[in-house]
Amino acid sequence: MNQDRKKIFIFDTTLRDGEQSPGASLNPQEKLEVARQLEKLNVDVIEAGFPAASRGEIEAIQMISKKVRKPVICGLSRMIRKDIDACRQALKFAKNKRLHVFLATSMIHREYKLRKDKSELVQIVKKEMEYARRFFDQIEFSPEDASRTEWEFLAEVVGIAIEAGATSINIPDTVGYALPSEFGDMIQFLVRQLPELGNAVTLSVHCHNDLGLAVANSLAAVANGANQVECTVNGIGERAGNASLEEIVMAIDTRKDSLPVRTDIELSEIIKTSRLVSRLTGMVVQPNKSIVGRNAFSHESGIHQDGVLKKRETYEIIDPHRIGLEESQLILGKHSGRHAFRERLKKLGVVLSEKELERAFERFKKLADQKKYVFDEDIQAIVEDEVVRIPTTWALEHFSVNIETQRPPRALMRLKKGGKVFEVSSSGDGPVDACYKAIEKIAKVKAKLSQYSLNAVTGGKDALGEVSVKLKFKDQEIAGRGASTDIIEASVKAYLQALNRALAYGNKRRREALV
Ligand code: KIV
Ligand code: ZN
Repeated sequence: MNQDRKKIFIFDTTLRDGEQSPGASLNPQEKLEVARQLEKLNVDVIEAGFPAASRGEIEAIQMISKKVRKPVICGLSRMIRKDIDACRQALKFAKNKRLHVFLATSMIHREYKLRKDKSELVQIVKKEMEYARRFFDQIEFSPEDASRTEWEFLAEVVGIAIEAGATSINIPDTVGYALPSEFGDMIQFLVRQLPELGNAVTLSVHCHNDLGLAVANSLAAVANGANQVECTVNGIGERAGNASLEEIVMAIDTRKDSLPVRTDIELSEIIKTSRLVSRLTGMVVQPNKSIVGRNAFSHESGIHQDGVLKKRETYEIIDPHRIGLEESQLILGKHSGRHAFRERLKKLGVVLSEKELERAFERFKKLADQKKYVFDEDIQAIVEDEVVRIPTTWALEHFSVNIETQRPPRALMRLKKGGKVFEVSSSGDGPVDACYKAIEKIAKVKAKLSQYSLNAVTGGKDALGEVSVKLKFKDQEIAGRGASTDIIEASVKAYLQALNRALAYGNKRRREALV
Protein backbone atom coordinates (compact mmCIF):
# COMPACT_ATOMS: atom_id res chain seq x y z
CA MET A 1 0.00 0.00 0.00
CA ASN A 2 2.91 2.28 0.81
CA GLN A 3 4.09 1.87 -2.80
CA ASP A 4 0.86 3.52 -4.07
CA ARG A 5 1.84 6.76 -2.41
CA LYS A 6 3.77 9.44 -4.27
CA LYS A 7 7.49 9.00 -3.72
CA ILE A 8 9.45 11.86 -2.17
CA PHE A 9 13.10 11.67 -3.14
CA ILE A 10 15.55 12.23 -0.33
CA PHE A 11 18.54 14.30 -1.45
CA ASP A 12 21.09 14.20 1.33
CA THR A 13 23.51 17.11 1.55
CA THR A 14 25.24 16.20 4.83
CA LEU A 15 28.56 15.91 2.97
CA ARG A 16 28.17 19.31 1.28
CA ASP A 17 25.93 21.81 3.09
CA GLY A 18 26.28 19.80 6.33
CA GLU A 19 30.04 19.91 6.07
CA GLN A 20 29.74 23.70 5.78
CA SER A 21 28.83 23.81 9.50
CA PRO A 22 31.63 25.62 11.28
CA GLY A 23 34.17 23.07 12.52
CA ALA A 24 32.48 20.08 10.90
CA SER A 25 34.89 19.36 8.09
CA LEU A 26 35.67 15.71 7.35
CA ASN A 27 38.68 14.03 5.80
CA PRO A 28 38.17 11.88 2.66
CA GLN A 29 38.09 8.63 4.63
CA GLU A 30 35.44 10.03 6.97
CA LYS A 31 33.40 11.30 4.03
CA LEU A 32 33.45 7.81 2.55
CA GLU A 33 32.34 6.28 5.86
CA VAL A 34 29.36 8.65 6.00
CA ALA A 35 28.52 8.03 2.32
CA ARG A 36 28.50 4.27 2.89
CA GLN A 37 26.12 4.69 5.82
CA LEU A 38 23.90 7.01 3.73
CA GLU A 39 23.70 4.23 1.16
CA LYS A 40 22.50 1.85 3.89
CA LEU A 41 19.98 4.49 4.92
CA ASN A 42 18.85 4.28 1.29
CA VAL A 43 18.89 7.98 0.42
CA ASP A 44 18.23 8.66 -3.27
CA VAL A 45 20.92 11.27 -3.85
CA ILE A 46 24.16 12.04 -2.00
CA GLU A 47 25.52 15.52 -2.57
CA ALA A 48 29.10 14.55 -1.85
CA GLY A 49 30.73 17.97 -1.87
CA PHE A 50 31.79 21.09 -3.71
CA PRO A 51 34.57 19.87 -6.04
CA ALA A 52 35.91 23.35 -6.88
CA ALA A 53 36.82 23.81 -3.19
CA SER A 54 40.04 21.76 -3.33
CA ARG A 55 41.96 18.88 -4.89
CA GLY A 56 41.20 16.84 -1.74
CA GLU A 57 37.47 17.40 -2.22
CA ILE A 58 37.69 16.07 -5.79
CA GLU A 59 39.57 12.99 -4.60
CA ALA A 60 37.08 12.35 -1.79
CA ILE A 61 34.17 12.50 -4.25
CA GLN A 62 36.01 10.20 -6.67
CA MET A 63 36.54 7.68 -3.86
CA ILE A 64 32.85 7.86 -2.90
CA SER A 65 31.84 7.50 -6.56
CA LYS A 66 33.86 4.29 -6.89
CA LYS A 67 32.59 2.68 -3.70
CA VAL A 68 29.02 3.88 -3.30
CA ARG A 69 27.05 2.72 -6.30
CA LYS A 70 23.36 2.74 -5.45
CA PRO A 71 22.44 6.38 -4.86
CA VAL A 72 23.02 9.17 -7.36
CA ILE A 73 26.24 11.02 -6.50
CA CYS A 74 26.01 14.75 -6.94
CA GLY A 75 28.52 17.62 -6.99
CA LEU A 76 27.77 21.31 -6.45
CA SER A 77 28.95 23.99 -8.85
CA ARG A 78 28.61 27.70 -9.41
CA MET A 79 27.56 28.55 -12.99
CA ILE A 80 31.15 28.94 -14.12
CA ARG A 81 33.30 26.68 -16.30
CA LYS A 82 35.99 26.04 -13.70
CA ASP A 83 33.41 24.64 -11.23
CA ILE A 84 31.58 22.55 -13.83
CA ASP A 85 34.90 21.07 -14.96
CA ALA A 86 35.81 20.24 -11.36
CA CYS A 87 32.49 18.36 -11.07
CA ARG A 88 33.24 16.48 -14.30
CA GLN A 89 36.50 15.30 -12.78
CA ALA A 90 35.07 14.51 -9.36
CA LEU A 91 32.15 12.50 -10.75
CA LYS A 92 33.91 10.68 -13.58
CA PHE A 93 33.73 7.28 -11.80
CA ALA A 94 30.13 7.61 -10.58
CA LYS A 95 27.59 5.05 -11.77
CA ASN A 96 24.75 7.58 -11.51
CA LYS A 97 25.79 11.21 -11.37
CA ARG A 98 24.19 14.62 -11.11
CA LEU A 99 25.54 18.14 -11.55
CA HIS A 100 23.98 20.73 -9.23
CA VAL A 101 24.42 24.30 -10.47
CA PHE A 102 23.27 27.39 -8.63
CA LEU A 103 22.94 31.10 -9.29
CA ALA A 104 21.44 33.69 -6.95
CA THR A 105 18.28 35.36 -8.22
CA SER A 106 17.01 37.63 -5.40
CA MET A 107 17.32 41.40 -5.72
CA ILE A 108 19.73 41.72 -2.79
CA HIS A 109 22.05 39.07 -4.25
CA ARG A 110 21.78 40.51 -7.78
CA GLU A 111 22.65 44.02 -6.66
CA TYR A 112 25.19 43.50 -3.91
CA LYS A 113 26.78 40.09 -4.43
CA LEU A 114 26.73 39.48 -8.17
CA ARG A 115 26.31 43.08 -9.37
CA LYS A 116 24.33 41.79 -12.36
CA ASP A 117 20.85 42.58 -13.63
CA LYS A 118 18.07 40.13 -14.49
CA SER A 119 18.95 39.84 -18.20
CA GLU A 120 22.60 39.09 -17.44
CA LEU A 121 21.53 36.27 -15.10
CA VAL A 122 19.27 34.81 -17.77
CA GLN A 123 22.21 34.78 -20.21
CA ILE A 124 24.45 32.98 -17.70
CA VAL A 125 21.80 30.32 -17.10
CA LYS A 126 21.37 29.70 -20.84
CA LYS A 127 25.10 29.62 -21.59
CA GLU A 128 26.28 27.47 -18.67
CA MET A 129 23.37 25.04 -18.94
CA GLU A 130 24.31 24.49 -22.54
CA TYR A 131 27.91 23.76 -21.56
CA ALA A 132 26.88 21.44 -18.70
CA ARG A 133 24.50 19.50 -20.96
CA ARG A 134 27.46 18.31 -22.97
CA PHE A 135 28.69 16.25 -20.01
CA PHE A 136 25.73 15.52 -17.76
CA ASP A 137 22.33 13.88 -18.27
CA GLN A 138 21.08 14.89 -14.84
CA ILE A 139 21.37 18.59 -14.04
CA GLU A 140 19.79 20.27 -11.06
CA PHE A 141 19.38 24.04 -11.10
CA SER A 142 18.99 26.11 -7.92
CA PRO A 143 18.00 29.79 -8.02
CA GLU A 144 19.80 30.71 -4.78
CA ASP A 145 17.78 32.80 -2.29
CA ALA A 146 14.64 31.81 -4.22
CA SER A 147 12.33 32.61 -1.30
CA ARG A 148 13.38 36.29 -1.47
CA THR A 149 13.16 36.46 -5.27
CA GLU A 150 10.24 38.15 -7.09
CA TRP A 151 7.89 35.27 -7.97
CA GLU A 152 7.46 36.24 -11.63
CA PHE A 153 11.20 36.48 -12.20
CA LEU A 154 11.74 33.21 -10.35
CA ALA A 155 9.27 31.42 -12.65
CA GLU A 156 10.97 33.00 -15.69
CA VAL A 157 14.48 31.81 -14.69
CA VAL A 158 13.24 28.35 -13.73
CA GLY A 159 11.43 28.06 -17.09
CA ILE A 160 14.62 29.03 -18.94
CA ALA A 161 16.65 26.44 -16.98
CA ILE A 162 14.13 23.73 -17.86
CA GLU A 163 14.21 24.69 -21.51
CA ALA A 164 18.00 24.56 -21.38
CA GLY A 165 17.88 21.00 -20.06
CA ALA A 166 17.57 21.06 -16.26
CA THR A 167 16.14 17.75 -15.05
CA SER A 168 15.57 18.97 -11.46
CA ILE A 169 14.72 22.38 -10.11
CA ASN A 170 15.61 23.07 -6.51
CA ILE A 171 13.98 25.98 -4.68
CA PRO A 172 16.18 27.08 -1.77
CA ASP A 173 15.12 29.09 1.23
CA THR A 174 18.78 30.00 1.50
CA VAL A 175 18.56 32.22 4.56
CA GLY A 176 15.71 30.42 6.33
CA TYR A 177 13.41 33.44 5.95
CA ALA A 178 10.22 31.86 4.65
CA LEU A 179 7.11 30.97 6.63
CA PRO A 180 5.43 27.64 5.88
CA SER A 181 2.26 29.11 4.39
CA GLU A 182 4.08 31.50 2.05
CA PHE A 183 6.68 28.90 1.04
CA GLY A 184 3.87 26.45 0.24
CA ASP A 185 2.12 29.17 -1.80
CA MET A 186 5.31 29.90 -3.73
CA ILE A 187 5.70 26.21 -4.65
CA GLN A 188 2.05 26.08 -5.72
CA PHE A 189 2.56 29.21 -7.86
CA LEU A 190 5.58 27.64 -9.61
CA VAL A 191 3.71 24.39 -10.28
CA ARG A 192 0.81 26.38 -11.80
CA GLN A 193 3.18 28.33 -14.05
CA LEU A 194 5.26 25.28 -15.02
CA PRO A 195 3.16 22.10 -14.74
CA GLU A 196 6.13 19.86 -15.61
CA LEU A 197 7.51 20.63 -12.12
CA GLY A 198 7.04 17.67 -9.81
CA ASN A 199 6.32 15.52 -12.86
CA ALA A 200 8.80 15.29 -15.77
CA VAL A 201 11.09 17.68 -13.94
CA THR A 202 11.86 16.93 -10.29
CA LEU A 203 10.76 19.73 -7.97
CA SER A 204 13.07 19.97 -5.00
CA VAL A 205 13.27 22.23 -1.94
CA HIS A 206 16.23 23.13 0.24
CA CYS A 207 15.32 24.90 3.47
CA HIS A 208 17.57 26.45 6.10
CA ASN A 209 16.68 26.64 9.74
CA ASP A 210 17.41 30.24 10.76
CA LEU A 211 13.89 30.62 12.18
CA GLY A 212 13.58 26.97 13.16
CA LEU A 213 11.16 26.40 10.27
CA ALA A 214 13.21 24.32 7.83
CA VAL A 215 11.26 21.10 8.35
CA ALA A 216 7.87 22.87 8.42
CA ASN A 217 8.73 24.73 5.20
CA SER A 218 9.89 21.52 3.49
CA LEU A 219 6.66 19.74 4.45
CA ALA A 220 4.57 22.68 3.24
CA ALA A 221 6.39 22.39 -0.09
CA VAL A 222 5.69 18.64 -0.25
CA ALA A 223 2.02 19.31 0.42
CA ASN A 224 2.05 21.71 -2.55
CA GLY A 225 3.77 19.53 -5.13
CA ALA A 226 7.50 19.21 -4.33
CA ASN A 227 8.76 15.66 -4.87
CA GLN A 228 12.32 15.99 -3.56
CA VAL A 229 13.58 17.31 -0.23
CA GLU A 230 17.16 18.32 0.41
CA CYS A 231 18.20 17.71 3.98
CA THR A 232 21.03 16.70 6.29
CA VAL A 233 21.52 14.16 9.05
CA ASN A 234 21.00 15.81 12.46
CA GLY A 235 20.05 19.00 10.58
CA ILE A 236 23.65 20.21 10.37
CA GLY A 237 24.60 22.86 7.81
CA GLU A 238 25.41 26.53 7.24
CA ARG A 239 24.56 28.73 10.27
CA ALA A 240 21.48 27.22 12.00
CA GLY A 241 21.61 24.26 9.66
CA ASN A 242 19.38 22.57 7.09
CA ALA A 243 16.11 20.69 7.34
CA SER A 244 16.82 17.55 9.32
CA LEU A 245 16.55 14.32 7.34
CA GLU A 246 15.27 12.25 10.24
CA GLU A 247 12.55 14.76 11.11
CA ILE A 248 11.28 15.01 7.52
CA VAL A 249 11.29 11.25 7.03
CA MET A 250 9.62 10.46 10.36
CA ALA A 251 7.01 13.21 9.92
CA ILE A 252 6.09 11.69 6.55
CA ASP A 253 6.02 8.20 8.03
CA THR A 254 4.16 9.09 11.22
CA ARG A 255 1.55 11.34 9.59
CA LYS A 256 0.63 9.09 6.67
CA ASP A 257 -2.96 9.94 7.49
CA SER A 258 -2.42 13.51 6.42
CA LEU A 259 0.41 13.31 3.83
CA PRO A 260 -0.27 10.90 0.93
CA VAL A 261 3.46 10.44 0.23
CA ARG A 262 6.32 8.12 1.16
CA THR A 263 10.11 7.95 1.21
CA ASP A 264 12.23 4.83 0.66
CA ILE A 265 14.43 5.52 3.67
CA GLU A 266 15.49 2.50 5.74
CA LEU A 267 14.13 3.77 9.04
CA SER A 268 16.05 1.29 11.19
CA GLU A 269 19.34 2.93 10.10
CA ILE A 270 18.39 6.40 11.37
CA ILE A 271 19.98 6.27 14.82
CA LYS A 272 23.16 4.64 13.56
CA THR A 273 23.54 7.31 10.88
CA SER A 274 22.88 10.13 13.32
CA ARG A 275 25.50 8.83 15.76
CA LEU A 276 28.08 8.30 13.05
CA VAL A 277 27.65 11.84 11.70
CA SER A 278 27.79 13.30 15.19
CA ARG A 279 30.94 11.36 16.07
CA LEU A 280 32.81 12.18 12.87
CA THR A 281 31.83 15.85 12.62
CA GLY A 282 32.16 16.47 16.36
CA MET A 283 28.73 18.16 16.26
CA VAL A 284 26.98 17.04 19.41
CA VAL A 285 23.25 16.38 19.03
CA GLN A 286 21.25 18.46 21.48
CA PRO A 287 19.57 16.12 24.02
CA ASN A 288 16.05 17.29 23.20
CA LYS A 289 16.53 17.11 19.40
CA SER A 290 13.52 15.42 17.78
CA ILE A 291 13.93 11.77 16.78
CA VAL A 292 17.67 11.39 17.48
CA GLY A 293 18.28 13.42 20.66
CA ARG A 294 19.22 11.49 23.80
CA ASN A 295 15.96 12.51 25.46
CA ALA A 296 13.66 11.96 22.48
CA PHE A 297 12.46 8.63 23.90
CA SER A 298 13.17 9.22 27.61
CA HIS A 299 10.39 9.76 30.10
CA GLU A 300 11.01 11.47 33.42
CA SER A 301 7.63 12.34 34.88
CA GLY A 302 6.00 9.65 37.02
CA ILE A 303 2.67 10.18 35.26
CA HIS A 304 4.28 9.70 31.84
CA GLN A 305 6.30 6.67 33.01
CA ASP A 306 3.16 5.06 34.38
CA GLY A 307 1.36 5.75 31.07
CA VAL A 308 4.18 4.33 28.93
CA LEU A 309 4.40 1.21 31.07
CA LYS A 310 0.66 0.66 30.63
CA LYS A 311 0.63 1.45 26.91
CA ARG A 312 3.64 2.88 25.10
CA GLU A 313 1.54 4.97 22.69
CA THR A 314 0.15 7.10 25.54
CA TYR A 315 3.28 9.27 25.38
CA GLU A 316 5.21 7.99 22.34
CA ILE A 317 4.14 8.64 18.74
CA ILE A 318 7.02 6.61 17.27
CA ASP A 319 8.06 3.10 18.24
CA PRO A 320 11.79 3.59 19.00
CA HIS A 321 12.62 0.15 17.56
CA ARG A 322 11.59 1.40 14.11
CA ILE A 323 14.46 3.90 13.98
CA GLY A 324 17.00 1.47 15.38
CA LEU A 325 16.83 2.24 19.10
CA GLU A 326 16.64 -0.64 21.53
CA GLU A 327 13.84 0.78 23.62
CA SER A 328 12.55 3.93 25.24
CA GLN A 329 14.07 4.86 28.55
CA LEU A 330 12.43 5.57 31.81
CA ILE A 331 14.80 7.94 33.55
CA LEU A 332 14.62 7.35 37.25
CA GLY A 333 14.66 10.64 39.09
CA LYS A 334 12.61 12.60 41.57
CA HIS A 335 9.55 12.60 39.31
CA SER A 336 9.41 8.82 39.03
CA GLY A 337 6.74 6.79 40.72
CA ARG A 338 6.43 3.29 42.20
CA HIS A 339 5.40 1.71 38.91
CA ALA A 340 8.65 2.66 37.14
CA PHE A 341 10.72 1.78 40.22
CA ARG A 342 9.17 -1.68 40.47
CA GLU A 343 9.72 -2.29 36.73
CA ARG A 344 13.38 -1.32 37.00
CA LEU A 345 13.84 -3.72 39.93
CA LYS A 346 12.25 -6.42 37.83
CA LYS A 347 14.70 -5.73 35.01
CA LEU A 348 17.54 -5.94 37.50
CA GLY A 349 16.28 -9.33 38.65
CA VAL A 350 15.20 -8.14 42.11
CA VAL A 351 11.89 -9.28 43.55
CA LEU A 352 10.82 -7.60 46.79
CA SER A 353 7.87 -8.04 49.09
CA GLU A 354 5.47 -5.06 49.28
CA LYS A 355 7.03 -3.97 52.59
CA GLU A 356 10.57 -4.17 51.27
CA LEU A 357 9.55 -2.38 48.12
CA GLU A 358 8.05 0.44 50.17
CA ARG A 359 11.28 0.82 52.19
CA ALA A 360 13.46 0.75 49.11
CA PHE A 361 11.18 3.22 47.31
CA GLU A 362 11.42 5.71 50.18
CA ARG A 363 15.23 5.49 50.09
CA PHE A 364 15.14 5.92 46.34
CA LYS A 365 13.00 9.07 46.63
CA LYS A 366 15.39 10.56 49.17
CA LEU A 367 18.34 9.86 46.91
CA ALA A 368 16.52 11.25 43.89
CA ASP A 369 16.06 14.54 45.74
CA GLN A 370 19.83 14.83 46.07
CA LYS A 371 20.93 13.42 42.71
CA LYS A 372 19.93 14.36 39.17
CA TYR A 373 19.79 10.77 37.93
CA VAL A 374 19.50 7.55 39.84
CA PHE A 375 21.46 4.84 38.07
CA ASP A 376 21.01 1.08 38.19
CA GLU A 377 24.09 0.84 40.44
CA ASP A 378 22.42 3.22 42.95
CA ILE A 379 19.30 1.09 42.99
CA GLN A 380 21.31 -2.03 43.56
CA ALA A 381 23.12 -0.31 46.44
CA ILE A 382 19.77 0.69 48.00
CA VAL A 383 18.43 -2.84 47.69
CA GLU A 384 21.60 -4.30 49.18
CA ASP A 385 21.51 -1.83 52.05
CA GLU A 386 17.84 -2.10 52.83
CA VAL A 387 16.83 -5.56 51.90
CA VAL A 388 19.26 -8.11 50.61
CA ARG A 389 22.62 -8.41 52.32
CA ILE A 390 25.02 -9.54 49.63
CA PRO A 391 27.20 -12.36 50.95
CA THR A 392 30.62 -12.75 49.38
CA THR A 393 29.89 -16.16 47.92
CA TRP A 394 33.03 -16.11 45.78
CA ALA A 395 36.10 -14.29 47.14
CA LEU A 396 39.31 -13.59 45.27
CA GLU A 397 42.32 -15.39 46.72
CA HIS A 398 44.89 -14.85 44.01
CA PHE A 399 45.22 -14.44 40.28
CA SER A 400 48.00 -14.02 37.75
CA VAL A 401 48.06 -13.60 33.98
CA ASN A 402 50.76 -14.86 31.69
CA ILE A 403 51.11 -12.68 28.60
CA GLU A 404 53.47 -13.68 25.80
CA THR A 405 53.57 -12.38 22.27
CA GLN A 406 52.12 -14.73 19.64
CA ARG A 407 50.07 -16.64 22.25
CA PRO A 408 46.69 -15.97 23.82
CA PRO A 409 47.05 -14.77 27.42
CA ARG A 410 46.53 -17.38 30.14
CA ALA A 411 45.04 -16.61 33.56
CA LEU A 412 45.51 -18.58 36.74
CA MET A 413 42.58 -17.94 39.08
CA ARG A 414 42.16 -18.94 42.71
CA LEU A 415 38.77 -18.26 44.35
CA LYS A 416 37.44 -19.14 47.78
CA LYS A 417 33.93 -20.29 48.60
CA GLY A 418 32.83 -21.34 52.10
CA GLY A 419 36.38 -22.05 53.26
CA LYS A 420 37.25 -24.12 50.19
CA VAL A 421 39.76 -22.93 47.60
CA PHE A 422 39.28 -23.58 43.88
CA GLU A 423 41.92 -23.04 41.24
CA VAL A 424 41.79 -23.21 37.44
CA SER A 425 43.58 -21.71 34.48
CA SER A 426 42.07 -20.49 31.26
CA SER A 427 43.10 -18.64 28.13
CA GLY A 428 41.15 -15.85 26.45
CA ASP A 429 41.16 -13.16 23.76
CA GLY A 430 42.83 -10.75 26.18
CA PRO A 431 43.92 -10.78 29.84
CA VAL A 432 40.51 -9.70 31.11
CA ASP A 433 38.71 -12.25 28.95
CA ALA A 434 41.07 -14.98 30.19
CA CYS A 435 40.28 -14.05 33.84
CA TYR A 436 36.53 -13.94 33.20
CA LYS A 437 36.63 -17.34 31.52
CA ALA A 438 38.54 -18.77 34.49
CA ILE A 439 35.97 -17.37 36.96
CA GLU A 440 33.14 -18.86 34.92
CA LYS A 441 34.92 -22.21 34.87
CA ILE A 442 35.24 -22.23 38.67
CA ALA A 443 31.78 -20.88 39.47
CA LYS A 444 30.13 -22.92 36.69
CA VAL A 445 28.23 -19.93 35.35
CA LYS A 446 27.94 -18.36 31.92
CA ALA A 447 27.35 -14.63 31.61
CA LYS A 448 27.26 -12.22 28.69
CA LEU A 449 29.32 -9.10 29.25
CA SER A 450 26.95 -6.41 28.02
CA GLN A 451 28.93 -3.40 29.25
CA TYR A 452 32.50 -2.76 30.31
CA SER A 453 33.97 0.62 31.13
CA LEU A 454 37.20 1.73 32.70
CA ASN A 455 37.73 5.10 34.36
CA ALA A 456 40.72 6.61 36.09
CA VAL A 457 39.48 7.62 39.53
CA THR A 458 42.62 9.50 40.53
CA GLY A 459 45.32 11.17 38.42
CA GLY A 460 48.97 10.26 37.84
CA LYS A 461 50.79 7.09 36.83
CA ASP A 462 49.56 5.18 39.90
CA ALA A 463 45.95 6.21 39.20
CA LEU A 464 43.25 4.04 40.69
CA GLY A 465 41.29 2.46 37.88
CA GLU A 466 37.61 1.78 38.38
CA VAL A 467 35.96 -0.86 36.22
CA SER A 468 32.17 -1.05 35.83
CA VAL A 469 30.60 -4.06 34.20
CA LYS A 470 27.12 -5.22 33.36
CA LEU A 471 26.66 -8.96 33.10
CA LYS A 472 23.66 -10.74 31.73
CA PHE A 473 22.91 -13.95 33.60
CA LYS A 474 19.99 -15.42 31.64
CA ASP A 475 17.35 -12.64 31.80
CA GLN A 476 18.98 -10.74 34.66
CA GLU A 477 21.33 -7.85 33.99
CA ILE A 478 23.53 -7.16 37.00
CA ALA A 479 26.09 -4.42 37.50
CA GLY A 480 29.38 -4.74 39.34
CA ARG A 481 32.21 -2.36 40.17
CA GLY A 482 35.80 -2.88 41.21
CA ALA A 483 38.74 -0.55 41.83
CA SER A 484 42.47 -1.17 41.92
CA THR A 485 45.72 0.35 40.66
CA ASP A 486 45.92 -2.80 38.49
CA ILE A 487 43.15 -2.62 35.90
CA ILE A 488 42.96 -6.40 35.46
CA GLU A 489 42.43 -6.80 39.19
CA ALA A 490 39.76 -4.07 39.06
CA SER A 491 38.10 -6.03 36.24
CA VAL A 492 38.15 -9.26 38.25
CA LYS A 493 36.69 -7.53 41.32
CA ALA A 494 33.90 -5.97 39.22
CA TYR A 495 33.01 -9.37 37.77
CA LEU A 496 32.97 -11.03 41.19
CA GLN A 497 30.75 -8.31 42.65
CA ALA A 498 28.23 -8.78 39.84
CA LEU A 499 28.40 -12.55 40.22
CA ASN A 500 27.84 -12.42 44.00
CA ARG A 501 24.93 -10.03 43.46
CA ALA A 502 23.39 -12.33 40.86
CA LEU A 503 23.66 -15.26 43.24
CA ALA A 504 22.13 -13.28 46.13
CA TYR A 505 19.25 -11.95 44.03
CA GLY A 506 18.69 -15.42 42.61
CA ASN A 507 18.50 -16.91 46.10
CA LYS A 508 16.13 -14.20 47.20
CA ARG A 509 13.94 -14.84 44.21
CA ARG A 510 13.86 -18.53 45.01
CA ARG A 511 13.02 -17.70 48.63
CA GLU A 512 10.15 -15.46 47.52
CA ALA A 513 8.83 -18.19 45.29
CA LEU A 514 8.71 -20.56 48.26
CA VAL A 515 6.67 -18.30 50.56
O1 KIV B 1 21.26 27.30 0.71
C1 KIV B 1 21.42 27.31 -0.52
O2 KIV B 1 20.86 28.12 -1.24
C2 KIV B 1 22.31 26.31 -1.08
C3 KIV B 1 22.31 26.20 -2.57
C4 KIV B 1 23.65 25.97 -3.10
C5 KIV B 1 21.33 25.15 -2.99
O3 KIV B 1 22.95 25.59 -0.36
ZN1 ZN C 1 22.08 25.55 1.66
